[in-house]
Amino acid sequence: MTGQETGPEVTVRPATLGDVDALVGLVVEVAGEGRWIATEAPVDVEERHHTVAEAVQSDHAIVLVAQAGGEVVGDLGLHLARYGVADLGMAVLAGWRGRGVGSALLAEGIDQARAAGAHKIALQVWPHNAAALALYERFGFRREGYLTRHYRRRSGELWDAVIMGLPLD
Ligand SMILES: CC(C)(COP(=O)(O)OP(=O)(O)OC[C@H]1O[C@@H](n2cnc3c(N)ncnc32)[C@H](O)[C@@H]1OP(=O)(O)O)[C@@H](O)C(=O)NCCC(=O)NCCS
Repeated sequence: MTGQETGPEVTVRPATLGDVDALVGLVVEVAGEGRWIATEAPVDVEERHHTVAEAVQSDHAIVLVAQAGGEVVGDLGLHLARYGVADLGMAVLAGWRGRGVGSALLAEGIDQARAAGAHKIALQVWPHNAAALALYERFGFRREGYLTRHYRRRSGELWDAVIMGLPLD
């Protein structure tokens, strides 16, 4: 991606241990929005630090960061299950959305999941998350199921979730 419309150039690369603080900061920010991801505020920062550091070093996970002007502006994580499915999660900082960062992360994530031998990528998304649904469908993900009143939020609300999958084989 070049920078004329998007500001600084965005690059996607594997995360390193040096990114862990920024990755934890990203989840704290997006969780703080309260609408898009399963993780809710307040995030247990210390626990998250361990989880992210573990994922970055694991042979069973792929963690990518999108970087712009020296700042981490998005991430994508894939957990590789033994049975061949890669579970996907991703987020882009609010100020960077709608500029192709998510697409760049997802294109690379799909390539890397395939290269790691996964036969499928799976994810869940809130039905109100129109931007995420549009992005996943554009990359060929299909709606495979629907969980009704499934996830209890800290507010006590029960949220539905859409199950999506992308075959890689
Ligand atoms: C979902 C997310 C990762 C997408 O990242 P992004 O950098 O905005 O993605 P892109 O700019 O590459 O593409 C976003 C697409 O959503 C579309 N979009 C944005 N808002 C939309 C809306 N309200 N309704 C429908 N489509 C919408 C854009 O038009 C774009 O599609 P297009 O290129 O075909 O026009 C980002 O919105 C995000 O981080 N959201 C908060 C966290 C989150 O929801 N994570 C996923 C949880 S399952």
